[in-house]
Amino acid sequence: MTTQDQLVRDIAVELPGATAVFRRHKIDFCCKGGVPLKEAAEHRGVDVGAVISELDALQGEDADAPSETHDLIPYILTRYHEVHLREFPEAIRMARRVEAVHREAAECPHGLGDLLALMAHELEEHQHKEEQMLFPAMLNDAPFDLSFPIGRMLMDHEDLGEQLETLGQLTTDFIPPPGACTTWRALYAACQKLDTDLRMHMHLENNILFPRFSGGS
Ligand SMILES: [Fe+2]
Ligand SMILES: [Fe+2]
Repeated sequence: MTTQDQLVRDIAVELPGATAVFRRHKIDFCCKGGVPLKEAAEHRGVDVGAVISELDALQGEDADAPSETHDLIPYILTRYHEVHLREFPEAIRMARRVEAVHREAAECPHGLGDLLALMAHELEEHQHKEEQMLFPAMLNDAPFDLSFPIGRMLMDHEDLGEQLETLGQLTTDFIPPPGACTTWRALYAACQKLDTDLRMHMHLENNILFPRFSGGS
């Protein structure tokens, strides 16, 4: 089935980031999401081809990481730093909405919006330190000893790992309850993508990039 024939709500759930694209084009993915994308786009007077290109761009974010430091750092910046900052606000918005609308439900993820907001805030500060100091020094062949700043970044990563554990607990490992609405399902899919991306991001730094500049140097 081509993308334009898929139901809007199915795309919203299966493709993290799609809800933000739909929101931009004012395509209803929740209450009126049970129609093919082509029909929803026509209804809004939007070019379906343009929407599909934006959705395809989301799917193209998974190229393999390059190995050379001078290629790996720009890759981490565009594939992870920028993508996290783009995706957190949408996840926070959806969490606040689900918590407000379904506050009486037993499975309601109380506190999820606050957790995501805290994670986004701390991650932004963390990434800023990497972008302003650590990565430029690495690209400049480490003109001074980087063990201390790397140690600080590793501690931040450990804190983030604990927040991801809480995220998994709050969302029952990203499995929405039976009958959950589209926003709820899209929220958990977005949280799962954040979890996967953040773990891969930390893996690239902890296990590949940082060891090149710490220990024995
Ligand atoms: Fe990073
Ligand atoms: Fe980091």
